Amino acid sequence: MPITRRNLFRNVAAGTAVAAALPPLADLAFSELVPSPRASGPGGPIILSRNENAYGPSQKVIASMQDSLQFANRYPDPAVSALHGRIAQSHSIRPEQLVLGCGSGEILSITASAFLAPGKTLITAVPTFESIGRCAKALGAQVVEISLDKNYSHDLPGMLARADASTALVYICNPNNPTASLTPRKELEEFIRKLPPSTTVLIDEAYHHFVGTTPDYTSFIEKPMNDDRVIVARTFSKVFGLAGIRVGYAVGAPEKIQSLSARRLPEGLNAVGARAALVAYDDIEYVQMSEKRNAEDRQEFFNQAKSRKVEGIPSYTNFAMFKTGRPAVEVIEHFKKNNIQIARLFPSMNSYVRVSFGTPPEMKEFWRVWDLIPTA
Ligand SMILES: Cc1ncc(COP(=O)(O)O)c(C=O)c1O
Repeated sequence: MPITRRNLFRNVAAGTAVAAALPPLADLAFSELVPSPRASGPGGPIILSRNENAYGPSQKVIASMQDSLQFANRYPDPAVSALHGRIAQSHSIRPEQLVLGCGSGEILSITASAFLAPGKTLITAVPTFESIGRCAKALGAQVVEISLDKNYSHDLPGMLARADASTALVYICNPNNPTASLTPRKELEEFIRKLPPSTTVLIDEAYHHFVGTTPDYTSFIEKPMNDDRVIVARTFSKVFGLAGIRVGYAVGAPEKIQSLSARRLPEGLNAVGARAALVAYDDIEYVQMSEKRNAEDRQEFFNQAKSRKVEGIPSYTNFAMFKTGRPAVEVIEHFKKNNIQIARLFPSMNSYVRVSFGTPPEMKEFWRVWDLIPTA
């Protein structure tokens, strides 16, 4: 294998001796460590697999991150406290009702460890965002998976039928990843009211900003149920374009939030990320523009799909899941060979693929490659 900077990185990561003979890792550009996320980037694949914001963070946020770097020698507390205060204020909640995390990934993980253990059960949908299910299994808890219903909503009667005194946690991803679908608010409220009093419900609103206006959706942060069993998770990774910066949060009753906070890594959030999130949170113009742009990109996606008679699940997010008319693995592989990454296979929906919306040139390339798929 030739010694390039990229396979050098792999070798070093694998702990081989080659490292000594090669240029220092510190010289590597970020673009050499990760594939270029842009269609126009040199050589890298087009990434339509992670439901990121294809356009990146706002210019204001980029400038704030650059400015923050000079304070890298300082602990992050002032920036983290400022972010905490700002989010609490904007949601009209007390600071003790909010916990920040390194992405909502950390929120999911600490929620699992706060409520689950051997003998306890998590009820979750299938397919859904799987990270909490993995945490639950690692904690020795039982995981009950209930298939989505025919509308790709959570099968709430099915979930309720499996809930009992051992059900410590129910996970509801709304809108749901990977199906991009909604579970109606009214049904969720009725469901939550009927759950055992000892069951905590985590509602993951990672894609909240992309839903648009529909009577079926209202955020549980913006219109709380006033039920202490409900925790709501949000992330800065989607509409704000900060997936690489790792900021998320949860809102809930003080006792629940206290048990999440107790499981956080102290000083987990970094100062650059906290300040970036603070600036992004108040960059209302950018957020509104991102929402509008996503709605247009989504419409264009469905227009293109329709013109090819491709059937998709209606999307309330920045990605869509659609029927492939052949095994999804073949389609994923076809895109990979053509330098486009779409999402991995979801075994319970093995004739569907999930694609995140990219920029218009990226999507033009996506459809060009789609059209190269040989007819079944
Ligand atoms: C539904 C859902 N929740 C949580 C996450 C985790 O996001 P992050 O850890 O970047 O905040 C994701 C990531 O794609 C997601 O789709």
